[in-house]
Amino acid sequence: MGLITPNDFKSLHALYTAQLRYLLSTENQIVKGLPAMIEHADDPQLKQAFQSHLQESQVHVNRLEELIGDVNDGDVDDKKDPILTAIVGSGENITKETDAGAIRDTGLIATAQKIEHYEIASYGSARDWATQLGLSDHAAILQQTLDEEKHADQLLTQISQRSNSAAASEAA
Ligand SMILES: [Fe+2]
Repeated sequence: MGLITPNDFKSLHALYTAQLRYLLSTENQIVKGLPAMIEHADDPQLKQAFQSHLQESQVHVNRLEELIGDVNDGDVDDKKDPILTAIVGSGENITKETDAGAIRDTGLIATAQKIEHYEIASYGSARDWATQLGLSDHAAILQQTLDEEKHADQLLTQISQRSNSAAASEAA
């Protein structure tokens, strides 16, 4: 199964619509996956960061649904994103193979940052395509989400500096 079918490339508008639908799948999977990450995180600041990103992600879902409805004749559905499924799956393996504590936290942060970087790349393209298509209102909304994703990523980098060193000193 290809990630994007050849039919999606007929126009930039079609590619843009597909990108928004993949992003909706991404965000839906994040909303579904974050509660387990909140539960498994040990560091209170990490728990809090995941919790606030869950709230933000719910807003991201709403924004995408609005944008998709606008370009897809009111038909709002997602397009299953297998890349996100794979990243979430690898994160679940780390959780299964670690005990609660700093090592598991660093694994959770690594997984979350893979997801953030994937979202940052996807939202960046979508914003640029919206601009090219003359959809400046879409571009502004996507920029807002992009800024929130970048902020979430920076916060995780900050937390990782503490948890990485705690993980390094945790006994094997
Ligand atoms: Fe998001």
